Formats: sequence, C-alpha cells, structure tokens
Amino acid sequence: MDLQGRNLVTTLDLTPDEVRGLIDSAIALKRGERDAALSRKVAALVFFNPSVRTRISCESAMARYGGTAIAINPGKDTWNFETKEGVVMDANTQEHIRELAPVITRMCHFVGIRKSELITVGSAQGEASGDYYELAKDEFIHRFIEFAEAPVVNLESNRWHPMQSLADSTTMVEKLGETRGQKYVLTWAWHPKSLPVATPHSQLMSAVNLGMDVTVLRPEGYGLEPEVMAAAKERAEALGGTVSETDDQDAAYAGARVVCAKAWASLDYYGRFDQEAKDKAPLRPDWIVNEAKMAKTADGLFMHCLPVRRNIIVTDGVLDGPLCVVKDEAENRLWTAAAVFDAIGKK
Ligand code: CP
Repeated sequence: MDLQGRNLVTTLDLTPDEVRGLIDSAIALKRGERDAALSRKVAALVFFNPSVRTRISCESAMARYGGTAIAINPGKDTWNFETKEGVVMDANTQEHIRELAPVITRMCHFVGIRKSELITVGSAQGEASGDYYELAKDEFIHRFIEFAEAPVVNLESNRWHPMQSLADSTTMVEKLGETRGQKYVLTWAWHPKSLPVATPHSQLMSAVNLGMDVTVLRPEGYGLEPEVMAAAKERAEALGGTVSETDDQDAAYAGARVVCAKAWASLDYYGRFDQEAKDKAPLRPDWIVNEAKMAKTADGLFMHCLPVRRNIIVTDGVLDGPLCVVKDEAENRLWTAAAVFDAIGKK
C-alpha cells in the first residue's frame, strides 16, 4: 500500500480499496510477515486532548520499526498556538500556525494531530460555546495542512477519528472473514457526559467500507451528522451494502454479527450540555448494552473504541464475555498505525 505524501484527515479520504490495502498491511505486520519502513523516520504527535490508545499505538508503532515519535501537549510543554489571520498577538498565543506547521514538518517526516474542542467542551459540560457545525470545520488541522511540508494524520478531531475506523475494520475482517452483507449495529448508549461524534462517524464508515449492512440504532434526536450519513449511504450503495437508522432496539439487535456501542451528544443540543443531561436522563435504563440484548444477535461480537464506562455503556457480563473483542480492537490500533505510517512515508 503506497499513500506517499497523502494526508489522512477524514475517514472518507481513503477509498474502500485503500482501506482494504491498509487492513491487509496491518494484518501482515501483526503476523510478522513484513516490516514497516519506519527506520530513521521521525513523527511528531501533537495532543491537545488526553489519550491512551492513540498515543501509545503511534509511539509503539514508530519504536517497533526503528523510528522515533515525539509527543507534545500544546500549552503545557509548548507555546500556545495561534491560527487566526491578521491577529495582533498581544495575548496568550506566542506561535502562529504559519511558522509552526512548516517548522515541525521540516523536522519530522509526518505529523499526527489530536484536537477536539468537543472532547473538552462536551466532557466538561456546562453552557460552553459549542456550535457543532462551526467546530466540525476542524480548523486547526486544516490550517496546519495548509502550511505543512509533510503528511498530516488526524488522531481525532471534532468530526472524524480515521485511525479508529481502520482498527475497527481490521478487527472485523480478522474476526468475521467475509464481511459483505453481514449485519453491523452502531448503537448509541447513555452516558453522563456529552461526547463527540467523531468516533461514531468513523465507526459507521468502518463497516460501510467493508460492504456490511449497517444499522445506526439511536433514540430520536440522536442522529449523526446528516452529511456524514448521506456519504455513508452513497458509499454503501456502491459497495452493495446498506445503511439504515432506527430507534427499534429489538429489530436492530436481531441477527447482528457485530454490535459496536458508543455514546455521543445530540447535535441539536451543542452548547446546552446541562440541558441535554437533564433531558436524556429517562433514556438511561433502556440504552445500555446488556446480555439480554446481545442474546438476540447471531453470536454478535461486541466492540467499543475504549475507554468505556462499565455498567454505563455496557454491562460487565458483556464486556467480560467471550464475544467481546475490545482488547483486540485496541491492539489493532497499533498495527493499523504502523500500516498508515508505513504507507504515507513510502519512498
Ligand atoms: N479509542 C481512542 O482513541 O482511545 P484514546 O482516546 O485513549 O486514544
């Protein structure tokens, strides 16, 4: 797989064939059948938000194949960065993205960026400024790319988490073999916080890209971004799969081969998270994944991107059961990160 010089910002940036190529590459790396060409390569990893899997998978991928990763936390161990044009920088920002992006990308072969205001705003709750469609422009990563001189990989933005998507697709190929026509359910789950939609957007595409029959199971008012749903349906149709949406849990679980759970905020409530918390309270008892629901599936695998709140999103019984694959899914973050870095850095 050769994606030399390409940026990876959205899950739609890769064609289904390219996704397949990266899955094959990740599985071959995992089996030890090949090495990633990362020797003497340097990656900068810019983490505005907390992370376990993303940071360690990227650092581990670089280290295992002879490269180096340098992770930084902007504002903690760097200057504060400015993105606006024509601004008089007399306040709290010391470095403009016009210098930052070329400087980092001249020193490193590629850059990973995690920047999600929604992780901070939604998780903190409160009446924060949180117009979804404004934040979904993912301004920082796009402005960084504008001035970058090396590839940029999105490690989770407000709208997309493409590396999670690749790990999820890889896990389903490993576990199911033939994925076309298999039923995949992406279910909303109740959660005390208002979480971003980036991961469910990318998880939706993880199954669409494999030609699966995808059901988005969510209560009224919790639909994903309409433009993302439309793109998913268009791609599914081209691949012979389907995408549908329902709030009927019995129908959705019936015959599912994969149930992927995720909490996400209602786009209608952005900026009014305290109000959302009150209004969604009645959904709590019904919107958890449990053994009774999983019993309706066709020996369905349980997936979650992690971290997961036990007995909030999913019961201990499901999470500790034989069909839970969350640890394999998390491990595949490593092999897919290695596959992506290998592909974008190819010479
Ligand atoms: N799934 C995931 O992205 O995990 P982290 O937030 O810990 O990186």
